[in-house]
Amino acid sequence: MPSNTPPGKPRVLSGITATGKLTIGNYIGALSVWAQEQDKHENYFFIADLHALTVPENIKANDLREHIKQIVALYLACGLDPEKSVLFQQSRVPAHATLGWIFDCVTPIGWLERMTQYKSKSQNATPSAGLFTYPALMAADILLYQATYVPVGDDQRQHIEIARDIAQRFNHLFGEVFRMPEPMIRTSGARIMGLDDPTVKMSKSTAQTRDGHAIALLDPPAKIRKAVMRAVTDSGSEVRPDALSPGVDNLLTLFGALSGIDRDEALRRFEGRRYGELKKEVAEVTIERVTAIQDRYHEIRSDETYLEKTLADGAEKASETAEQTFTEAMRSTGLL
Ligand code: TYM
Repeated sequence: MPSNTPPGKPRVLSGITATGKLTIGNYIGALSVWAQEQDKHENYFFIADLHALTVPENIKANDLREHIKQIVALYLACGLDPEKSVLFQQSRVPAHATLGWIFDCVTPIGWLERMTQYKSKSQNATPSAGLFTYPALMAADILLYQATYVPVGDDQRQHIEIARDIAQRFNHLFGEVFRMPEPMIRTSGARIMGLDDPTVKMSKSTAQTRDGHAIALLDPPAKIRKAVMRAVTDSGSEVRPDALSPGVDNLLTLFGALSGIDRDEALRRFEGRRYGELKKEVAEVTIERVTAIQDRYHEIRSDETYLEKTLADGAEKASETAEQTFTEAMRSTGLL
C-alpha cells in the first residue's frame, strides 16, 4: 500500500463535467449520494471544467463561466457542506493537468480505443485528442487524491476501471505511488434514462438539443410536468410487473429514488394503476424535490462573494492534498 494512504475516514472523490444544465440523472446517480454519505467520508467534489473542453465546438466562454458557477451553487443547494466536503474547480489545481499528461504517457492507445464513451461521442463531431485521452485526465483526478471510493452513475464504471489499470501500470513502471479506487454505485437509479427515449441514458448534452429528453434541476415546475406527462411508455395503459417496458421502468425508478423507497416497492405501489397516475405522481415528487433545491440555489446565487470564496477555499484545500501525491509521482518518475 502506498505510504500516503490517507488515515482516518475513507476518502471519496467525484465530479461533474461543466457541459450543460445538471439533470435529475446527475442528481440521483451522483449528487444525492454524495450528500447522503457526506458524514461517513473525507470528501472531495469538483467541477470538471477541463473535461468540458473536450468538445470545444460546444463551448462558449460565457456559458462555461456560468456553468461553473451554476454547478458549485447546485452542489451547495443539494446539501454539500463546505465544512464537510472540499468543493473545488478542477482547473484551479494545476496538478490535475500535469498528472493527466504523465498518465497520457503511460496509457496504451488500445485501452483508450476500447472506451465506449469515446466510441459514441466521436461519431458526431470531429473528435479532439482531448476527447480521446479524457480517461487519463479522469484517472489523474481520482488518483491524485488517493480516493478510496468514487461515487458515480453506472455510465462511469468503465472510466474507473481504466483509472485502476493506469494506477497499476504506473506503479509497476515507477514504484507504488497510487492506491486502487473503488466505484460506489447505487443499486437502483444509477442509470436514469431519457424521458423521450428510454433506451438511452438521460444526458445533459443531449438535453441541449432535445426538448423533453431530460429534467434539469433548474427547470420550472410547468416544464417538468410537461416532460414527465409526455414521457415515452408503451402501447399498454397500466403498470404490469410481468410486462414492464423501459419507459415505465424508468418512471418507477425515478419515483423510487425521489421518494426514498426502492424500485420494487415503487412497483408494488403502482401495480395495476394507470400510466397517467404514475406520471402524475412522478411529476409531483420531482417538482417537490427540485423546488426545495431551487429555493436554496437562488439564495446562494444572490451572494457571488460567497460562491467565489467557496471556490477559492476549496482550491487551496484540494491543492494541499493533491500536492503530496503529485510530488511523489514527480519523484518516482525522476521529473523531480
Ligand atoms: P458527467 O458530468 O457526465 O455526470 C456526472 C455524474 O452524474 C452521473 N450521471 C447519471 N447517473 C444516473 N443517471 C444518469 N442518466 C446520469 N447521467 C450522469 C454520472 O455517472 C456522474 O457520476 N467523467 C465524468 C466527470 C468526471 C469524474 C472525474 C467523475 C471527471 N473526472 C473523476 C468522477 C471522478 C462525467 O463526465 O460525468
